[in-house]
Amino acid sequence: FSDFLTDTFHRQHDYLRISVTERCNLRCVYCMPEEGVPLSPTRELLTTPEIVLLSSLFVSQGVTKIRLTGGEPTVRRDIVPLMQQIGALRAHGLRELCLTTNGLSLHRKLEAMVEAGLTGVNLSLDTLDPWQFQLMTRRAGFAAVQKTIGRIFELNRAGAGIKFKINCVVMRGLNDREILPFVELTREKDVEVRFIEYMPFDGNKWSKGKMFSYQEMLELIRAQHPGLQRAQDHKNDTSKTFQVPGFAGRVGFITSMTHNFCGTCNRLRITGDGNLKVCLFGNAEVSLRDVIRGVNNGEPIDEAAFESLQQAAVEKLQGLSPSAEPLVVPNSEELLNLIRM
Ligand code: GTP
Ligand code: 5AD
Ligand code: SF4
Repeated sequence: FSDFLTDTFHRQHDYLRISVTERCNLRCVYCMPEEGVPLSPTRELLTTPEIVLLSSLFVSQGVTKIRLTGGEPTVRRDIVPLMQQIGALRAHGLRELCLTTNGLSLHRKLEAMVEAGLTGVNLSLDTLDPWQFQLMTRRAGFAAVQKTIGRIFELNRAGAGIKFKINCVVMRGLNDREILPFVELTREKDVEVRFIEYMPFDGNKWSKGKMFSYQEMLELIRAQHPGLQRAQDHKNDTSKTFQVPGFAGRVGFITSMTHNFCGTCNRLRITGDGNLKVCLFGNAEVSLRDVIRGVNNGEPIDEAAFESLQQAAVEKLQGLSPSAEPLVVPNSEELLNLIRM
């Protein structure tokens, strides 16, 4: 591993998340307003060749895991060809290619994706009840998601080896009574159900009172399953993993609100419009798109403009962690240099 993507906290940023669309076919109440989010003009979004170029640059520097996110990544029309091209980077060191999805239309594309190199699916599902699904996502579609889940198990029985996790955002008074049914799902199925502490933020209009804490979830599950055991977390997991003895699957918690896990976070992010971000909570971003397109209407940028861009990047990318510790993006100057070549 080169030290290229190692930051001042010795964290190796070998995991890149790329948002491939801002659009979504659901309207989850904690995420988007009914009318959706404002969309960037198409010309500002990364094109498929640009996403592939950035992916290959990062892989050449030690990134071994790429996760495609959104919005909802499957609404990007050319998602399968895009995955095929990124999947080809397996020959250059990419080991994992993952998708975070609501699963609504995935069943149709899943097989082609596995062929392209898909190794993991994190499926967002907050309820096991079709009516509650409609309440929380403001759309119908529960049956389609069930179809996707069925398809994943089917492919895995045939040896596809998809690492499968379900992300469940828990909101007090909405779906907190479904915690135990979700745990029950892990009895027979090899799946990791991860409960996410709901994060209130400007724009989703929910108060902190809707947050159901990790501690509360743990107590609720322990009352039913006193034997619940802490399992081994993987090195850079942002979740804490548990297992009910004898159950096939696992249960995890993403404690975004009550325990920070910045110390083990190894994620880099590229937004739909091509900005690099180190932290979910930080607002500072630096445009890789402008670097790869060149500013000045597509003309290559001059030395002075490039230097000020680098300077701006480094300044912007400092001090971004939610714990307010200064966080320096891994050698961002080198990264920009490389992209410019
Ligand atoms: P794997 O570890 O590969 O399974 O994926 P992931 O958990 O990084 O990705 P996923 O898209 O499934 O994200 C699930 C949730 O994790 C998100 O809703 C976030 O709440 C949380 N999350 C992921 N990365 C970070 C991070 O760096 N910081 C914080 N605070 N939360 C994160
Ligand atoms: N709080 C917690 N989790 C959220 N997600 C989206 N918005 C929020 C929020 N306000 C989750 C989705 C998905 C993951 C990528 O982020 O449910 O599983
Ligand atoms: Fe947001 Fe994901 Fe729900 Fe779409 S499916 S509204 S992106 S949380």
